[in-house]
Amino acid sequence: MSRRIAVFGTGYLGATHAACMAELGHEVLGVDVDAAKLEKLEAGEVPFYEPGLAEVLKRNVENGRLRFTSSYEEAADFANVHFIGVGTPQKKGEFAADLTYVEAVVEKLAPLLTEPAVILGKSTVPVGTAQRLAKRVRELAPVGDAAELAWNPEFLREGYAVQDTLHPDRLVLGIDSSNPSATVEEVAREVYAKIIEEGSPFLVTDLATAELVKTAANAFLATKISFINAIAEVCDAAGADVVTLANAIGHDVRIGRQFLNAGIGFGGGCLPKDIRAFMARAGELGADEALTFLREVDAINMRRRTHMVEITKSAVGGTLLGSRIAVLGAAFKPNSDDVRDSPALNIAGQIQLQGASVSVYDPKAIENSRSVFPTLYYARSTEEACRNADAVLVLTEWAEFKEMDPSTLNEVVGQKTIIDGRNCLSPRRWRNAGWHYHGIGRNALFD
Ligand code: UGA
Repeated sequence: MSRRIAVFGTGYLGATHAACMAELGHEVLGVDVDAAKLEKLEAGEVPFYEPGLAEVLKRNVENGRLRFTSSYEEAADFANVHFIGVGTPQKKGEFAADLTYVEAVVEKLAPLLTEPAVILGKSTVPVGTAQRLAKRVRELAPVGDAAELAWNPEFLREGYAVQDTLHPDRLVLGIDSSNPSATVEEVAREVYAKIIEEGSPFLVTDLATAELVKTAANAFLATKISFINAIAEVCDAAGADVVTLANAIGHDVRIGRQFLNAGIGFGGGCLPKDIRAFMARAGELGADEALTFLREVDAINMRRRTHMVEITKSAVGGTLLGSRIAVLGAAFKPNSDDVRDSPALNIAGQIQLQGASVSVYDPKAIENSRSVFPTLYYARSTEEACRNADAVLVLTEWAEFKEMDPSTLNEVVGQKTIIDGRNCLSPRRWRNAGWHYHGIGRNALFD
């Protein structure tokens, strides 16, 4: 059955969710306060880079199932299912999450609910938030207890957002046990009917568990990455190879090979701020001791960035002053133009601050990088970035860098030195072409 749905927030999460709900056959209204963003979306244009999303958006704008508005009144009149998909960034100067945007949606929407309605929160929030918001919704809504709030965390990865939304590993629904009713679960099952039919597990929990499922998942992923990065440090010290090691331990299904890629570590708008918000919340709950290991996870991760600067410094003869460094990759991961807390851009900035002249190239993230770091030089191609370089750094594993032919750069660079911050190149291939290859925790005799 087709539902009338409103999605609040049209960033990476909200825009993808709105387009995918329309793709599932629902009538959808995307709501945002940013008029410029809405104008683009209405024209079928995605305001950021996400493979496959433009097609889904355009198709559903054209068939009339997907529209956009800045009016909460229109959204409240139109829909009886409301998704919250706004951001919860890190607070300035604190570890905790900033809930301003989530709270603003509830404060504006709830007083307009004159008919029974379901609000499904998707944003990542500290445990306890949903219970508080559920109560607030009932207080503010003219319809009272018939305005129900549940939590339905999102697990999509940038770069695979459409795939992850339409074919998720699992759906989680946290229900308010203080206001029990069968409606919320029924509505969610209807909204996601096609996905459930396809076989995605649908797990119903209480609100706190649903919130914690999300934060625990991201904390686990961050821990897995920092684990392999810590092992990479030991591999460097012992002359062992972390890639071979990861392949070997990854065969154990209890461990698994995914998220064991050592390198310059994790960044982006989620993992770094989510582990910090998780520690802050555990502290508030009196359980801070339980998560002290996440401080170490964070520290290992941040150390990767300074480590990369040090490797570069020693590769160019002990000082970065006056050296020319090419940086390939600025996005926090490939297939994204997102540079929020990007390790690549952070490293490029640190190297420049130590006196090097840095030329950065990224297939999609130049515009966003320029607004964060306007003083770096941005090249239009790999060749331009590498011209006369004393060292070439690969910091985001875009396919075009992985497939790069060393011989095309032989005549372009000043020194044939390549530093593979993502362990994504073949050391043998580059060494055979006469390059000095440096990886992270790589001995790579057998590559
Ligand atoms: C992450 C989670 O993977 C999603 O499940 C979650 O929904 C999302 O956060 C969120 O909370 O919204 P995302 O931030 O898109 O997704 O990126 P990831 O694919 O998790 O990568 C995060 C960072 O870890 C990237 O900088 C990536 O380069 C790095 N990484 C990943 C590694 O350094 N090594 C690995 O083996 C894997």
